[in-house]
Amino acid sequence: MVLPVTATQDAPPSCDVRALRQEVEQRLAELLPEAGGERDLIALAMRESTLAPGKRVRPLLLVLTARDLGYDDPSLLDLACAVEMVHAASLVLDDMPCMDNARLRRGRPTIHLHFGEDVAILTAVALLTRAFHLVSSLSSVPPLLRTQLVGGLANAVGTQGLVKGQYQDLREGTRARSADEIASTNDLKTSVLFSATIDMAAIIAQADESVRVTLGSFASELGQAFQLLDDLRDTRDNDTATTGKDICKDEGKSTLIALLGVEAAHRRLGMHLHHADAHLSRALGDRQDTRAFVRALFDAAMIPAVQRTTVLTGAAG
Ligand code: IPE
Ligand code: IPE
Ligand code: MG
Ligand code: MG
Ligand code: MG
Repeated sequence: MVLPVTATQDAPPSCDVRALRQEVEQRLAELLPEAGGERDLIALAMRESTLAPGKRVRPLLLVLTARDLGYDDPSLLDLACAVEMVHAASLVLDDMPCMDNARLRRGRPTIHLHFGEDVAILTAVALLTRAFHLVSSLSSVPPLLRTQLVGGLANAVGTQGLVKGQYQDLREGTRARSADEIASTNDLKTSVLFSATIDMAAIIAQADESVRVTLGSFASELGQAFQLLDDLRDTRDNDTATTGKDICKDEGKSTLIALLGVEAAHRRLGMHLHHADAHLSRALGDRQDTRAFVRALFDAAMIPAVQRTTVLTGAAG
């Protein structure tokens, strides 16, 4: 019997985080274009794809990290919303028939099913451009920092980031790959956006270079852990009511789960989380909000391997 992975769908149990998520969602609603009627499909699809209930992991991480670095300003919320728009665009594209061909996202029909493939593509482009425009016009952020923020986000999306990761995932994921090759694809398709998110927090907070580098190491480990957990949840033991999206989409793909097996993947996940936590603690010292958030996000996955093995084999006692 395989123990299903039941990741926390909701954010961590802190009231502050819940309130912050609400702030992010409210600001997103303000920043997205209002639909000028029911025929304004692009605006409707931008709102639907972005405002549908997601975990908001990236925007929350951005704000919490910047605050843990001692920086707080209303521009943080807008920066966080820009990252969520980029993420939403990546999900719209990822779900399309030419990619993962998914039917359900965040508990709702995918954007191409709801609005058509033409609208889905245009919506992704519109979300990306909205995000870049937003970052480039953060008037309270000095121009030099703004340029760095835009550049970092652009790199995360481009040919050294999401685009390349998705390409590798789709075109190379069907052949046998080594663990290192799969991890490298996961890095591109998932970690780079986490890295850009955390780096934007470090840039806006004007963190020391050494702290910035350590935060970069944290983000890489977090991205690997996040994609592993996502892959672990993509099994028949889960259901769409839990995940809010189609399951078994990775069938036939050379994922780390397929290569290593569930138990080894869990151990690898634990290792990434352990390293992530160590980097975070080194970077942020006694400022604990980001650490608490990450821990709560992965709490179910952090059941010690030995305990899980006992549960799996029924070998308690
Ligand atoms: C899904 O990301 C895509 C991956 C990188 C695995 P999330 O799990 O953050 O999706 P939402 O935002 O909560 O819908
Ligand atoms: C992450 O991989 C995709 C993106 C980076 C957009 P998945 O294809 O596994 O993500 P889900 O499971 O559809 O959310
Ligand atoms: Mg995919
Ligand atoms: Mg997918
Ligand atoms: Mg997945």
